[in-house]
This record gives sequence, C-alpha cells and structure tokens, in this order.
Amino acid sequence: MNAITIDGPAASGKSSVGFEVARRLDFLFFDTGILYRAVTWAVLQQGIDVADIEAVGQVAERTRIDITAPESQQRDGRQVTVTVDDKDVTWAVRTPRVDQNVSTVAANRLVRQTLGVQQRRIGLRHGSGAGGKAGVVMMGRDIGTVILPEAPLKIYLDAPVDERARRRGQELAARGRETDIARILEDMRRRDEVDSGRAIAPLRPADDAHLIQTFGLSIPQVVEKIVLLAQTHLELGQARPLDLTAPQEGTGALQE
Ligand code: DC
Repeated sequence: MNAITIDGPAASGKSSVGFEVARRLDFLFFDTGILYRAVTWAVLQQGIDVADIEAVGQVAERTRIDITAPESQQRDGRQVTVTVDDKDVTWAVRTPRVDQNVSTVAANRLVRQTLGVQQRRIGLRHGSGAGGKAGVVMMGRDIGTVILPEAPLKIYLDAPVDERARRRGQELAARGRETDIARILEDMRRRDEVDSGRAIAPLRPADDAHLIQTFGLSIPQVVEKIVLLAQTHLELGQARPLDLTAPQEGTGALQE
C-alpha cells in the first residue's frame, strides 16, 4: 500500500509539508482536519451547541462535505476547495471561531465514527492506487494510530507551541486577518490539551512513526526527509518521485 500518514499538533507543518510531498510523489493529499472543521462550521451555522453530542453527531451524518481541486478562478492561496452542501466554505472553516470550537467537535465519538469510516475508505482506495493517483498522503491527528494503522510510512511532525503560534499568526496575517499572538498561543495550548487528552483517538505518535521536529527546518528540508523515507518504505516502482531535485514554489511559512 502506498500510504503516508502525517500526524501532529496544529501548525506543526503538516499541511504545507504534506501537500508538497504529495505533489512530488503524485499522490493524493488528504487533509482530514477539513472534515472536522466543515462539521464544526455547519454546527455553528445552525446554532447548535457544540457540546450537544447527539445533535452534533447528527450534523456529521447529514452534512455533505466535498473536497475538490481548486478551479482556475479560485487561485487565492487555497490548496483545495471545500464545500458544505454546495456552499464554498474553504476560508470559513479557517476562522478563529471554528478554531475555537473544532476540538470539542473532534472529541465527539459520534462525529469520529462517521468521519472515521469515510476517511478510512478514501485512504484505502487511494493507497491501493484505485483512485487514479499513485498513492495517498493522509494528514490529521490519529491517521497513523487509528484510521490507517497499516500504512507503511508514518510521520509525526512536531514543533514547540510558541513557534506553532507564531506560524499560525503569520498565516492569518497573510490572509489579512487580525493576529493577536497571545490569544493564538492560548487557543493553541487549549486545543493541544483537548486533542491529546480526549478519550477517543487522542493525538499521539504511532509506535512506529518517524518523529520529525520541524523547528528550525524549512519546508523543503522536511519534505526531502519524507521523500527519502518514502523511497525506502513504499513501493514506488515506476512511479518514481517527481522532480527529486527541483526547487518548489510556495515555500513560505509552514502552515498547520
Ligand atoms: O488539522 P486541523 O487544525 O485542521 O484540525 C482541526 C481539528 O480537528 C483539531 O482540533 C484536531 C482535529 N482532528 C482530529 O481530531 N483528527 C484528525 N484526523 C484531524 C483533525
């Protein structure tokens, strides 16, 4: 199976690194956090209490989330386009309000059940090559431990929390949003606590995960490490990694 799992806390570099690794290997890039964010957005939109387990679980079941490649007129820095019941929520799922509520939704066992089944199905299909790509890079918190434990290459990215808050601040500033670093840091600490302390599928590295500290490393350096690991852990066969030496575009601040 050609699957790479990338787990780690918020703003540890998962998104920018995972996206680039997938591009280099011609794999599908699947950011599973988007699903939890989309459900959170729908819950808030409907005025439902995020702590109401049953009601939030039902939202997860009935919400139709779509993740597609951006169209040419949508080049506004997005990696993918996210729709909820056909409404474009690509940026709406990245607001501080969603940030503040998403870990509660992600700790909901009904939500995890519904979204977990979808994630595993997508991961297995693309990991086996049946989805049209050579494999899949799947990113989240529990991908290596729960969703795709049989993946042949598992990565856990980490960085100190103040560095991650700084990156998140830069990312928000780049989108013209207000950035209060102290508040971002506080939110991030709280999210880390909820994500790592929850009863179901807590954030932790799989026993066989490769741990990479991204502090002080650039995106290309981290990508290079993972691509090298992919060459020894996966069956890349004829689908050799693309552009092994090519510098890539968009090597700005690490995100997620
Ligand atoms: O990666 P992110 O910040 O977009 O994730 C949003 C939230 O969803 C975060 O609180 C962690 C949670 N999450 C999760 O519990 N399991 C995943 N596989 C992905 C994200």
